Amino acid sequence: MGREFLDVFEQWADSYDDTVIGHDAEYKEVFVNYEQILEQVASISFGHVVEFGVGTGNLTVKLLEKGLKITGIEPSEPMRKIAEEKLQGRASLLDGDFMVFPELKNPDTFVSTYAFHHLTDEEKGEAIALYGKLLSNGGKIVFADTMYESEQEYKKAISDAQKNGFLNLAKDLQTEYYTTIPVLREIMEKNGFAVTFSRCNEFVWLMEGVKQ
Ligand SMILES: C[S@@+](CC[C@H](N)C(=O)[O-])C[C@H]1O[C@@H](n2cnc3c(N)ncnc32)[C@H](O)[C@@H]1O
Repeated sequence: MGREFLDVFEQWADSYDDTVIGHDAEYKEVFVNYEQILEQVASISFGHVVEFGVGTGNLTVKLLEKGLKITGIEPSEPMRKIAEEKLQGRASLLDGDFMVFPELKNPDTFVSTYAFHHLTDEEKGEAIALYGKLLSNGGKIVFADTMYESEQEYKKAISDAQKNGFLNLAKDLQTEYYTTIPVLREIMEKNGFAVTFSRCNEFVWLMEGVKQ
């Protein structure tokens, strides 16, 4: 579910790794500190890690470097192919998405970077409720993504992108389901997680939830 944006990745898969190193001026700020963001997510993950929206496998590589057991889930075939080439069989990669995925054995940490905004807020709530049921106490959700402190900040980001002439970025911010920290905090707490948010760049925040 939440697969309505997969066409974007049919087009973007081949050049995605150029975008994350700042080659696309419109998305440069979104990917500031990209490597450090992935590092941070990997450093606070533990045990059996389930990664959603693997993309080209850049976070998966960081998780492997930490010696973690990984199940990677990615709905886009072109993205999965690039990740498979990069990972050379060192992690198990499966077709699936944030809400529909093969049975998982004792997951400890759910991770994702730059992907949770593909779900509506309602779907985000359903997904977090599902992870809450699958995790034991102490289990974690560690997601980094674009999000905003308030609706006003979200609207300002769209108008700033328009003023800068970044029309693709502005359309993306208006079309996909970027959310606010208060919305995510409510969803996480309702499902029994203690949650913290820390800012990574102008767009991206890291959300760390620990099941109580
Ligand atoms: C911007 S890329 C991020 C890739 C990688 N996580 C990273 O940080 O570089 C977003 C990824 O989310 C995937 N995606 C899109 N819809 C999804 C869904 N409903 N569930 C899981 N992944 C999804 C896309 O196919 C794409 O690979």
